[in-house]
Amino acid sequence: MTDTDKALRLALAEQLAEGGHLRTAPWRDAVEAVARHEFLRGGFFERVDAAGPTAWRSLLPDDPRWLAACYQDESLVTQIAGTVVPADIRGEILRAPTSSSTMPGLVVRMLEDLHVADGHRVLEIGTGTGYSTALLCHRLGEDLVTSVEVDEGVAARARAAIGRAGYVPDLVVGDGLAGHGDGAPYDRVIATCGLTTVPYAWVEQTRPGGTILATVGGWLYSSDLARLTVRDDGTAHGPFLGGHISFMLARPQLPPQLGLLPDLDAGDERATGLGAADALDDWTTRFVAQLAVRGAQRITLDRDGRTEHVLLDVRTAAWAALSLDGAAWTVRQGGPTRLWDAVEEHVARWRSDGAPGLEHFEITVTPEGQAVTWPGGRGLL
Ligand SMILES: C[S@@+](CC[C@H](N)C(=O)[O-])C[C@H]1O[C@@H](n2cnc3c(N)ncnc32)[C@H](O)[C@@H]1O
Repeated sequence: MTDTDKALRLALAEQLAEGGHLRTAPWRDAVEAVARHEFLRGGFFERVDAAGPTAWRSLLPDDPRWLAACYQDESLVTQIAGTVVPADIRGEILRAPTSSSTMPGLVVRMLEDLHVADGHRVLEIGTGTGYSTALLCHRLGEDLVTSVEVDEGVAARARAAIGRAGYVPDLVVGDGLAGHGDGAPYDRVIATCGLTTVPYAWVEQTRPGGTILATVGGWLYSSDLARLTVRDDGTAHGPFLGGHISFMLARPQLPPQLGLLPDLDAGDERATGLGAADALDDWTTRFVAQLAVRGAQRITLDRDGRTEHVLLDVRTAAWAALSLDGAAWTVRQGGPTRLWDAVEEHVARWRSDGAPGLEHFEITVTPEGQAVTWPGGRGLL
């Protein structure tokens, strides 16, 4: 390690402490000790600043900006479209990110929120570059850390980087939604990929009194961090922590392909007092809407000179299309269920309960599934 990267690590730790993310000495020690750039030796993708769909270009270690950029409090994308790494691309690429080094502020906020103690066994889902895995190894010792990564190439690169940092935790390649029974029971489970539903396997593999920390959301892309405690009766329950946290979704929980769009001129039309902007642009309202229509995805279309906001549930073929006529919203709906009726009903109930923020929501996971509730109300996700 050079003096330059040591100075960068110390400066990052100071910045994260000042920002309130890094709150305790053991995690500060870890951030000061683990060199993030070692986890980004393959370079990363930076967003191209231009109008239109998001494009990415590579920033490789031979670029003089690379080292300092590794110590910015930014998420750095390391894989696109499931296979493409920075060294593969010379120009620009317009596909979705599939792996990244999460922004350090969020990594340490989650590690602090995990409330670990010496001797705790931790299961991490989503090894990614391995940076957060190495922080866990520094804090707890490599023998107590298991991390699961679904992507073989990502996992191989992480294994090499974690090894360069001097740690040999239990690194597993596979679907982390199944947990890793061989290392159970765990005191803590932490997910660095997003979830639509918390797998019951994680509850089974966590000892009673243990904690599961994960970002829970859905296909309308509103989510928040939840901290569940596993109870003696084999269920888990706990609050959302607030802060509008989002992660790339666990691959098996990604939404299905859209396929053919329905005939949006068919269906029943009526006026609605709940406009798309009102229900779907605000983070918390969208979270509530998502509870009502858990299979729905959002598409925005420009048709005949006006914008249509479409919700489509590919599995049931139910759809709702909203458009603004002057100041009034109209909804057309088709398929076996009325998606917008469900959204209106849920949002109205949440508002009549005082429109509580996500930090007042709670989640329960049982063998039968998952329930998300707000004070006075109830929603299912
Ligand atoms: C945001 S990245 C993880 C960041 C990582 N903690 C770090 O510090 O670099 C999310 C990772 O989760 C992985 N992932 C997605 N679905 C998964 C699954 N079902 N099981 C295990 N890993 C998964 C992705 O391949 C990706 O590498």
